[in-house]
Amino acid sequence: MSNRTFTMIKPDAFKNGHSGAIIDRIIKEGFKICALKMLKLSPEKAGEFYAIHKERPFFGELVEFMSSGPIIAAILEKENAVEDFRKLIGATNPDNAEEGTIRKLYAASVGENAIHGSDSDANAKIEGDFMFSVLEQF
Ligand code: RTP
Ligand code: MG
Repeated sequence: MSNRTFTMIKPDAFKNGHSGAIIDRIIKEGFKICALKMLKLSPEKAGEFYAIHKERPFFGELVEFMSSGPIIAAILEKENAVEDFRKLIGATNPDNAEEGTIRKLYAASVGENAIHGSDSDANAKIEGDFMFSVLEQF
């Protein structure tokens, strides 16, 4: 069990002005911020980040969406971080997300679903290191 996960507030949630409310919620749920920044992914970088999905039919749309505007990336710490954070964000499709989850509150569709959360301890480490240098991780 690791105590860190990685997240991105996606371009839709950022553009719609939900970043502050989402960060506030994350902190209130007991996650500590270990790294934080605002950036815009190039299509190349977005494709690299989601390379695991490159054979999927939605890959092109996903890359276009994730590079369409600014995002906020963060590394978060809490006991059982990966699993607890996936619970907090809810199902990939907001229609299936539980009431009160971040995707239920702020996401419009399965493609534009407000927030990312790592799906394993190993990926949390890979994704955090992809987005933050050692000098940016505390
Ligand atoms: P994420 O990686 O962003 O936290 O999302 P997830 O684990 O809940 O879902 P995943 O299967 O990893 O899919 C990654 C992202 O691809 C987009 N997607 N679009 N149009 C579609 O059917 C579809 N399916 C997935 C979503 O933005 C999803 O979060
Ligand atoms: Mg995923």
